[in-house]
Amino acid sequence: TMHIFNGKEALMDYLKSIKTPHSTIGFVPTMGALHQGHLSLMQQSLDENENTVVSIFVNPTQFNNPDDLSKYPRTMEADIAKISGLSSEIILYAPSTEDVYEGKILSQEFNFDGLENQMEGKFRPGHFNGVGTIVKRLFEIVSPTNAYFGEKDFQQLQIVKKMVEKNNIAVNVVGCPIFRESSGLAMSSRNERLSKQQRTESALIYQILNDAKEKFKNNSAKSVTEWVEKLFKKNASFELEYFQIADETALLPCERKNKTKNYRAFIAVNINNIRLIDTISLN
Ligand code: PAJ
Repeated sequence: TMHIFNGKEALMDYLKSIKTPHSTIGFVPTMGALHQGHLSLMQQSLDENENTVVSIFVNPTQFNNPDDLSKYPRTMEADIAKISGLSSEIILYAPSTEDVYEGKILSQEFNFDGLENQMEGKFRPGHFNGVGTIVKRLFEIVSPTNAYFGEKDFQQLQIVKKMVEKNNIAVNVVGCPIFRESSGLAMSSRNERLSKQQRTESALIYQILNDAKEKFKNNSAKSVTEWVEKLFKKNASFELEYFQIADETALLPCERKNKTKNYRAFIAVNINNIRLIDTISLN
């Protein structure tokens, strides 16, 4: 049966006891409300490591909106069933806020070389300091060899890589492909809050990303962006927060195409106060 830990000391003792000179630990941090996207990260970790640790922790310091934190789905029993269905060898760490933050629910301040000022950073003040704080803390507890993050949150993936580099943390950060519903909608814990009709309509997001990719071959970033903005102005169901074409490394908006850079389109939309994000490579 699956090993479940609520306290970090017991987890750390256990990991020490199973460690051998050449064994690796794969780590998949999550906030629960698990779906197939999360499970695909866990499967990759299982494939590439002797041991896999998954964490479930709804991290208060990364929520800039208290309403979003209180409404975040908490489905521990179903999550445990999904994890053990995938593999009984997964080690689950599901701590309390106290176990992680020890009385001080505060974010550390990070300098991510400007990555934190783009896109999600603009619209969610403090969010990435919260992510950096919890991921650093979890890395200290789990000491993983490899850590798996989804490209769904591409900016988060780049921020974690930057944090690891700047703090000389000995972990290999692995980016994993976006897992989608059959409609193309990127899987997200927030999709559960969509009505059936909203869920159908939300397939539009990935369609637009694909159209933008096609248009970007022969058009500037500016004209593609204007095309997307116009499209959303005419759509009553969605409110566009941002659409941005940026290079994959610095995440700076693309002014003039540079052949040496890889570009990506990023989008955030609200449908009935449910915030959805997605991204696509333009190369
Ligand atoms: P959460 O939103 O639960 O996501 C956990 C991991 O699953 C992240 O790396 C995310 O990018 C990945 N993921 C989510 N949906 C995905 C999809 N459709 N396809 C592939 N991967 C997907 O991201 C967080 O939690 C938190 O910020 C966390 C890193 C755990 C720190 O609190």
